[in-house]
Amino acid sequence: NDQDFYWKDGSLWCEDVSLETLARKFGTPLYVYSKHALVSAFNAYQSALADHPHLVCFALKANSNLSIIKLFGELGSGFDIVSGGELQRVKAAGCDTRKVIFSGVGKTVREIREALLADIKCFNIESPAELDRIIAVASELKLRARVSFRVNPDVDAKTHPYISTGLKKNKFGIAYEDAVSLYIKASQAPELEVVGIDCHIGSQITETTPFADACEKLCTLLDQLAEHGINLKHIDFGGGLGIKYGTETPPTAKELMAALRRVLVRRGYGDLEMIFEAGRSLVGNSGALLTEVEFLKSGQLKNFIMVDAAMNDMIRPTLYQAWMQIVPVTPSNDKSAAFYDVVGPVCETGDWLGKDRLLSVRQGDILAMLSAGAYGMTMASNYNSRCLPAEVLVNGEEAHLIRRRQNYEDLYRDEILLTR
Ligand code: LLP
Repeated sequence: NDQDFYWKDGSLWCEDVSLETLARKFGTPLYVYSKHALVSAFNAYQSALADHPHLVCFALKANSNLSIIKLFGELGSGFDIVSGGELQRVKAAGCDTRKVIFSGVGKTVREIREALLADIKCFNIESPAELDRIIAVASELKLRARVSFRVNPDVDAKTHPYISTGLKKNKFGIAYEDAVSLYIKASQAPELEVVGIDCHIGSQITETTPFADACEKLCTLLDQLAEHGINLKHIDFGGGLGIKYGTETPPTAKELMAALRRVLVRRGYGDLEMIFEAGRSLVGNSGALLTEVEFLKSGQLKNFIMVDAAMNDMIRPTLYQAWMQIVPVTPSNDKSAAFYDVVGPVCETGDWLGKDRLLSVRQGDILAMLSAGAYGMTMASNYNSRCLPAEVLVNGEEAHLIRRRQNYEDLYRDEILLTR
């Protein structure tokens, strides 16, 4: 967010603290988030939907730090979860589990039980077998499950194949052609209350058209369901709104809502509650990953900047060939610029954060990878026995540690050393 990460006196700031100061104080690698940016991103959805019944559900998988969950909860957010662990995080953050939507293709009996006992808002069912399982668990607990089907609208979100999910060839959702018969079956089960319909077509989508197309297809199903006397309360568009990493020009929340409203109103479904499972667009631009330059190295064909962050701290570049901006937080003019690959210390050729970047840096400089607030920390691992980074939430002049850096003992705390 340009307003919350900005240049002042020759260095990069987050709200009222310089990133250089944060790196020196908390060490690196370090994830830094702007509270103001998080609040602004959430409020963009809220104001775009202000005139309609709606619920914005923060998709925890994008960033599941307890303090960030709590912040969104206080702003009125619901939550999109995909595991029992994420449900537990909502509880641990003190948030309302009745605003939880449970997505995911492989819900276990235990997870369904926990979610039913937590009285969640809705299960997004992704297969006929899952429908049977939810009926069985609800019957055992003598509870009623609110359900929706995640329908695969078969639209092309035009995003990276790993994060495109709404096509027929994907493992997600139920086939469009099977939806009506499954809805009829569900509506006849006394253990269920059929409340909604949903889809999720992919992530980092930078146009409104795929969303509007999916909406049209869901409306056609709603027409067919109504003929069978099945009337739903909500329509869930999933997540997927893209953000700007570089040259992308994603629609604003307002533009996306306008496009969806046009379809809903024209099709006669203007009164349905609108649900969004927003992840990246709520947190992506609100975070940066700070890392220190350990060494500069001239290879035979390339120059390398070895930094202390690696693929285990931020896997997006190597996993999705994602381009993420990398800048020195305090640029100086006294060295000449060169093209570098920015790489980490992990023993893999794929351990890179940026390729062919024109940078002028020296050993000890702090670099910031921008727009790293989504799918950064949540995808981090301990590979190569590297400690997970710390996380800091900036609020004006204050910087709060919201996750301490792991230490060596943390790396093997759960392991059992056999003594004979
Ligand atoms: N709902 C469902 C059912 C999802 O599968 C996802 C993301 C979301 C909501 C949230 O989507 P978002 O608003 O964040 O686009 N690790 C990848 C992204 C994977 C997205 C998986 N599903 C990345 O770093 O680009």
